[in-house]
Amino acid sequence: MANSDPKAVVDEAKNVLKHNDRGNWTVPAGDLYPHQWLWDSCFIAIGLRHINVERAQTELTSLLRGQWKNGMLPNIIFDPSEAYRQDRELWRSYVSPYSPEHISTSGITQPPMLAEAVVRIGEKLKMPERRSWYVQIYPALLAYHEWLYHDRDPHKEGLIILLHPYESGLDNSPPWISELRKHSMPWWVSMIERLHLDGLINLVRRDNRHVPPGQRMSNIEALAYWAALRRLRRKAYNSEALLSRSLFAVEDLAFNCILIRANSHLRQIAKTIGHIIPDELLARMEKTQKALDQLWDEPSGQYYCRSFISHKIIEEPTIATLLPLYSGNISKERAKRLVEILKSRKYFGVSYPIPSIPVNSSYFDEFKYWQGPSWVNTNWLIIDGLRRYGYENEADLLSQRTLEMVAQNGVSEYFSPLSGKPAGAADFSWTAALTIDLLK
Ligand code: GLC
Repeated sequence: MANSDPKAVVDEAKNVLKHNDRGNWTVPAGDLYPHQWLWDSCFIAIGLRHINVERAQTELTSLLRGQWKNGMLPNIIFDPSEAYRQDRELWRSYVSPYSPEHISTSGITQPPMLAEAVVRIGEKLKMPERRSWYVQIYPALLAYHEWLYHDRDPHKEGLIILLHPYESGLDNSPPWISELRKHSMPWWVSMIERLHLDGLINLVRRDNRHVPPGQRMSNIEALAYWAALRRLRRKAYNSEALLSRSLFAVEDLAFNCILIRANSHLRQIAKTIGHIIPDELLARMEKTQKALDQLWDEPSGQYYCRSFISHKIIEEPTIATLLPLYSGNISKERAKRLVEILKSRKYFGVSYPIPSIPVNSSYFDEFKYWQGPSWVNTNWLIIDGLRRYGYENEADLLSQRTLEMVAQNGVSEYFSPLSGKPAGAADFSWTAALTIDLLK
């Protein structure tokens, strides 16, 4: 697709969503991602609301069918057909007593975008309908936020911890890879790496059948991620059991920024329907707002992820350093510093911003998944954050350049920030949905 006519771009995006529609939910991309993903469906609903509000609502309510009895929302709800038995068996959600009875899911979560999507749909509804929409979703949403604090903030410090890189949504982002290499590399994976046997892993990797290997995580990373998943599964996804032995838990920057914003949406939803959020949860939500500051590193003037185990900042800069803008929770002075980072050569100096990591990072690779390419969802979050702090011109410019990137190169999963060349899966749902949203 090389099109500058907004109507043609919207038509193309609508076609992608239609093609990926499975009735009540949408796959991120048919071949590579044939199931329902948590934050994907939230972004998809944000676009779908402009086309069909009711369908946007089902995109979210269908996510709730996968909710665990302890409140967790899993990052994947599996297609039940026989063809995907292997995918379901990889996770075996049934090993946990909390997993839902008749449906297979993963055993971990993903960034809490649900509250944002609920409110964006709410904006399209008149007050009585909005209220009943909120009433319908609220119990599940509240249970999810309660689970996050109860299960993933064991020391009541305010920052949620993640137990697997997939939970961050930015799967192979450098802080996760460096943490994994330092603390959680099984000896046999290191051995495979040393003996250069990693090529063999191509025989069992499904993703590389759909996308060139250079655009995905490396075989060694994939193997280490699989080992981390197996550890979770062996402990039946019980975080307490895991944390007592594991050296691998991260206070993820992007996740906590999204949570802060989600918490403020949760407050707004509760207020609209006249519900009082339990005091305990409110206190913990407030703590998160203050705790974000602990991820700020004054010497480098950046936000970072932090290791839960060592309590040390993981000094690997990524696009997540800009997401505190989206949280809406930082001072104007701090926001100004982030906007300066955004406008610097290493982020905005490329032809198609914003690269998922700065171009001067030693990890940078224009095509490699979350280690360089530009993604429409992170751009969308940052555009929103810029508007929140009154940077309208910067937001308009980024929005325009994001739309150009899609119009000129297609509705792809991600793009080279240097040339705009599309990479990852073609016909990607959140790229389509958020393009529609940006054009509105
Ligand atoms: C990739 C992305 C993740 C997304 C999933 C489905 O794993 O890293 O964020 O949710 O694909 O699209």
